[in-house]
Amino acid sequence: MRAVVYDHYGPADVLRIEDVEKPVPKADELLIKVHATTVNRFDVHTREANMTSGPVVSLLSRLVSGFPRPRRRILGSEFAGDVVAAGAAVSEFKVGDRIFGNTGMGFGAHAEFVCVKESGRVAPMPADATFEQAAPVTDGALNSLWCLRLAHLRKGEGVLIYGASGSLGTAAVQLAKYFDVDVTAVCSTKHLEVVRSIGADRVIDYTQEDFTKNGETYDVIFDAVGKHSFKRCKDSLNPGGRFLACDGLDNLILALWTPRFGDKKVIFQIPPRWTKQDVYFLKELIEAGRYRAVIDRCYPLADVVEATRYVETQHKTGNVVLTVDGEATS
Ligand SMILES: NC(=O)c1ccc[n+]([C@@H]2O[C@H](COP(=O)([O-])OP(=O)(O)OC[C@H]3O[C@@H](n4cnc5c(N)ncnc54)[C@H](OP(=O)(O)O)[C@@H]3O)[C@@H](O)[C@H]2O)c1
Repeated sequence: MRAVVYDHYGPADVLRIEDVEKPVPKADELLIKVHATTVNRFDVHTREANMTSGPVVSLLSRLVSGFPRPRRRILGSEFAGDVVAAGAAVSEFKVGDRIFGNTGMGFGAHAEFVCVKESGRVAPMPADATFEQAAPVTDGALNSLWCLRLAHLRKGEGVLIYGASGSLGTAAVQLAKYFDVDVTAVCSTKHLEVVRSIGADRVIDYTQEDFTKNGETYDVIFDAVGKHSFKRCKDSLNPGGRFLACDGLDNLILALWTPRFGDKKVIFQIPPRWTKQDVYFLKELIEAGRYRAVIDRCYPLADVVEATRYVETQHKTGNVVLTVDGEATS
């Protein structure tokens, strides 16, 4: 089968298309013909061994992903496709089912076929969704859902989402609305419309206004892009306020420290715990018209390096899709 492989950590051009052996499903696994997948920040960070986050994080990343070379040659965590074979012990899905999900650290979705455990993070495709629409559903949403749940949001609370135009951010805005809170979203000028369209109650353009200086305060501030800090936001939190982080060693330390001192705290826990039920939950939200993955660009698999370079600009809108066997659709 055709797959995107890499043998060394490094820049986007370590990726190349190669013919590799098609995986064979174990008794509890499904073999999926992948129609669409994505390039996300998880792929990028893993491929470069988190080198941009400094030597300590890079070493930890290599210990997890393989030292000195990557243990798994094929990246790609999100997928949407058809079940083409099922192991003897599989009972929930059958050949021909259209499914979507996330392989997490197992990766393997940048390929024509991938095996996933039936008990893994996989669910039937939302009714009426295309493969391109379903593939980018899980990454931003599962990460944001994990963070938002840790905050134990209460109905009517004021929540500010910083970096509301990224993969996590666009998911966070919509999921926060599901939790029935009042959402203020912060993004750049070019993203104001899309962020409004996904349900933000109010949108602040960070190129025009610094939300930490306008006198407004919030119960929760979620830095969904990893570019703000508790220190800078603290005065914009109400008493008892929570700062949700999605990234950063410093936030891990603050998450241990801040609950013991003062009444405002940082919440950050890794690794995120996602379940199959979470994927079913997203399917139901989509079918109820309450969630959609925001898609920026769609590239054919052969253009994976170009797609990756675009993701690495850190200016994408929502998600970047790879179509495995079809034409790019946007
Ligand atoms: N995706 C993952 O697998 C994953 C998992 C866990 C944690 N994380 C972490 O979560 C964070 C977000 O990941 P992501 O995939 O959602 O990122 P992303 O989609 O690449 O974020 C890009 C978006 O952020 C906006 N942005 C860039 N600089 C900004 C700034 N200074 N202030 C506000 N917005 C800014 C960009 O628009 P403008 O440039 O126009 O503002 C763009 O829309 C990262 O720190 C990542 O490491 C990611």
